Amino acid sequence: MTTKKAKQPLGKRNRKASSSGETSPIWGGRYGQGPAAVMERINASIDVDRRLYVQDIAASLAHARMLAKAGIISESDSRAIAAGLKRIEGEIAKARFPFRRALEDIHMNIEARLAEIVGPAAGRLHTARSRNDQVATDFRLWVRDALDGLDRRLKALQAALIARAERHASALMPGYTHLQAAQPVTLGHHLLAYVEMLGRDRSRARDCRRRLNECPLGAAALAGTSFPIDRNATASALGFDRPCANSLDAVSDRDFAIEYLAVAALVATHLSRLAEEIVLWSSGHFGFVRLPDSLTTGSSIMPQKRNPDAAELVRAKAGRVFGALMTLLAVMKGLPLAYAKDMQEDKEPVFDAAGTLDLCLAAMTEMVAAAEFDTARMKAAAARGFATATDLADWLVRALRLPFRRAHHVTGRLVKLAEARNCGLEDLSLSEMRAIEPGITKDVFRVLGPGNSVRSRVSLGGTAPANVKRAAAEARRRFLGRDQSKRA
Ligand code: ARG
Repeated sequence: MTTKKAKQPLGKRNRKASSSGETSPIWGGRYGQGPAAVMERINASIDVDRRLYVQDIAASLAHARMLAKAGIISESDSRAIAAGLKRIEGEIAKARFPFRRALEDIHMNIEARLAEIVGPAAGRLHTARSRNDQVATDFRLWVRDALDGLDRRLKALQAALIARAERHASALMPGYTHLQAAQPVTLGHHLLAYVEMLGRDRSRARDCRRRLNECPLGAAALAGTSFPIDRNATASALGFDRPCANSLDAVSDRDFAIEYLAVAALVATHLSRLAEEIVLWSSGHFGFVRLPDSLTTGSSIMPQKRNPDAAELVRAKAGRVFGALMTLLAVMKGLPLAYAKDMQEDKEPVFDAAGTLDLCLAAMTEMVAAAEFDTARMKAAAARGFATATDLADWLVRALRLPFRRAHHVTGRLVKLAEARNCGLEDLSLSEMRAIEPGITKDVFRVLGPGNSVRSRVSLGGTAPANVKRAAAEARRRFLGRDQSKRA
C-alpha cells in the first residue's frame, strides 16, 4: 500500500494520512503507522504559522544560494529550488496554495509543494538545516518586521498628537492629580506627555530589534552541522547583523519574542491611559472632547447615547496583550535546552498581540486626529476648583517672603473663604484677602486665574504656552525627523 502510494505526489498521499493509518508523510522511513487523528490535530501548527510563509521562503532562498556557493548542492538544483519557491510564494499570495494539515507546519507544506514542482532537487534544500533553526529564523524575521511596523504606527500617532498639541499649545485645562483638579495646564502640554511615552516605546522597540538581529540559520537541529556552510552569508543575505554565536541558544531562544511582547504590553498600557482619558473627557460630566459620529456608537435602547466604544476597546485590549506576554513567559519557563515542541506555542500570542496593537494604534490615531476639543469648557473647568491656590502660595513666598508652610496655611484660609462665598480665588476682594494676610497687595491678582498660572510655569518642561510651542517643535524634530531609525 505504501509503496504504491509513494509514487503519488506527496500532498495527495497525505490527505488521508490519519484516517487510513498509513505511514507518516514526513518521517516515513522510520514509521510503520501514521498519526492518530488527535495527534495530527494537536501537532499541526499550519493554521497559525502559515503567516510565516514570506519569511520561510526568504530564508530558504538564502539557504539554497549559500549551499550552492559552498558547493554543497549544485547550481542547477539551487536555481530550480529558487524558481519553485518563488512560484510557491505567488501561489500562497493568491490563495491558490493547497495547505495540508497532515504536513504539520508551514515549513513542511512548502517543502512538500516544492517537491511536487521541482522534483528531487527539493529534497536537497533541507541539507545542513533543521526545522528548529528554520522556524527560529523565520520567526525572528517576522518579529523584526512587526517591530518596524510598530515603529511606523507609533510615529504616526506621535505625529497626530504633535499636530494637536501645536494647535492647542495655549488652550487651558485643569491638570489633575488623584483625578482632582490640581493646577491648570495647557492641552498641548498634556498631549505632548503622550508623545514622550510613545517615544520611549519606539526606543524600546529599536533596542529589542538590535538584540533580535542575529541569525539562527545553520545551527541546524541544535549542534551545528558537519557541512561546510557559510553562516555569515545567510545572515547577511537576510539582513541580520551576524549569526547567533551558539547553536543551542540559536534554536532555543525566544527572548526576542518575549521582549517584543514586553514592548507591546507597555505600548498597550500607554494607549489604555490615553483611551481612558478620551472616555472620561467625552462623558457629559467632563464634556472636554467630542468624537465624530463615525468614531462612536449609539445605544440600542437609549437614543441619546454616543458611546466611545473604540476608546473603551483600546482600553480593554491592553489585557489581551498582557495575556500574550504572560503566555509566552509561561511557555518558555523551565524548558530545558534546546528545542522542545512547547515552543510551537510561541507564535499565536505574538501574532495576536501584533494584530491587536496595530488595530489599537490605528483607532487611536484616528481618534486623536478627529477629536473636537471643547476648549471653552476646558478653560472654564480650569478656573474651577481653586486650581491656582499654589500660585497664590508661591506669590506669598515671593512677594511677602513668607515661609512656604506659612504661605500654604494662609492660602488654605483664603480657599476656605472663597468656598464659603462660592467664588473663585480671583473673585475675592483685596480687603477680604487682607483680613487674612494684611501684607497682600493688588499685585496678587496677576498670578490668580488659570491663564496667569500657566504663563508663569516657564521652568524647563513646564506648561507655559511658550514652552509648549517650543516643546512641540522640538518633538517634531526629535520624533518625526527622517533619521529616526538611527536614534538610540
Ligand atoms: N512547527 C514547529 C514550530 O513551530 C517547527 C519546528 C519543529 N521542530 C521539530 N523538531 N519538531 O516550532
